[in-house]
Amino acid sequence: MITLDLSNAHLNEKISDYQSEISKVHGYLHERNYKGSDFLGWVNWPKDYDKEEFKRILEFKKELDGKYDTVLVCGIGGSYLGARAALEMINGLYPDNGVEVIFVGNTFSNTYISQVLNHIRNKEVVLNVISKSGTTTETSLAFRVFKQFMEEKYGSEAKNRIIATTDKARGTLKALSDKEGYKTFVIPDDIGGRYSVSTPVGLIPMVLAGVDIEAVMKGSLDAMNELNTDDLNKNPAYQYAVARRILNKQGKRSEMFVTYHLQLTMIAEWWKQLFGESEGKDGLGVLPTSACFSTDLHSLGQFVQDGDKVLYETILNVENMPLDFDFPADEENLDGMNYLAGKKVSWVNKQAMLGTLSAHADDGNVPNIMINLKDNSAYAFGYMIYFFFIACGATCYMLDINPFNQPGVEVYKKKMFKLLGKE
Ligand code: PA5
Repeated sequence: MITLDLSNAHLNEKISDYQSEISKVHGYLHERNYKGSDFLGWVNWPKDYDKEEFKRILEFKKELDGKYDTVLVCGIGGSYLGARAALEMINGLYPDNGVEVIFVGNTFSNTYISQVLNHIRNKEVVLNVISKSGTTTETSLAFRVFKQFMEEKYGSEAKNRIIATTDKARGTLKALSDKEGYKTFVIPDDIGGRYSVSTPVGLIPMVLAGVDIEAVMKGSLDAMNELNTDDLNKNPAYQYAVARRILNKQGKRSEMFVTYHLQLTMIAEWWKQLFGESEGKDGLGVLPTSACFSTDLHSLGQFVQDGDKVLYETILNVENMPLDFDFPADEENLDGMNYLAGKKVSWVNKQAMLGTLSAHADDGNVPNIMINLKDNSAYAFGYMIYFFFIACGATCYMLDINPFNQPGVEVYKKKMFKLLGKE
């Protein structure tokens, strides 16, 4: 499902030289005996996930069928990005399945929240609030607003249209949900936000938007089985982690995650959070950035080609994307585009990728890692997220960093709470 091409990565060390280091971090991940090990629940989750809860999710979706055309998903960070990344990758940006998914709770933008309120006034809405802690301010603020909207619109029926995904016992959101009679789904104790997309955190928005969540879990399970080896020759996730490490040691301080389809932009956002929040600690880490080509070749492309050689690129090459078409011929050819007539637009996109790869890697001396993923299916999504989890865990442990906390995030909260007058 995933292969790695390092032929343009300009590595000045051999991947295989890291075998013993990888064997050590493989042990940390699988024997759960190192930093942050309380949050390693995701490692076996594709096999150990709560099957009863999964069934409840499918049944609940059936109950709601035909009753909604709009899903409001209220959450931030790990309680937001994975679901959005999945939906956009799998369903595309304008799916015609009759369901619009709108993400809220991820911003204090007054204008955004107001516009969403206006936009959904005449829609049939279900609201999924997602917060492990149950106290995240962006999410709580939006939830109060949209909860009141639901109560005004649906009266006592509102409680049947509000779903909470949160801690199984603790936190304000759990207490509030029990009191109001909402259906609740559990975020496991030992899985942190950015590793939680294949838990109810991501599965509920996915299933409500028509994604085959059984395929997502199957993809993750196959990845779990195939990537459960410390043999660097056989494990592309560890190869990727080692390539990142080598490039960082070569002085590359930023990784640009590159996609060639606009519907993969949120995958890049999800990836940025995964690596940024996991690795960016103790003055260490590679700054995760992203670009969608060829769109951003007309903005960031100049810097990549000719600017400071601070970065390397990692291309997520999704080999088969649906909805292809032939570029039409035109008798008059006034635009001079007939040289592409009859060619698939996917072929054009691919040539853009190959040309850019050569321009950046050969002429611009920018190392390029290529991750090849078969397609954008629910199965491929499930496989890919597990691949990145393993790569990220290994990267952090190689740097002796706890991948599962985010102490730096608390600093802005403290300053903000002081200004907001929160006790
Ligand atoms: O990865 C993480 O742990 C964070 O990004 C959290 O997901 C984010 O801060 C939201 O937290 P919560 O789910 O508690 O509202």
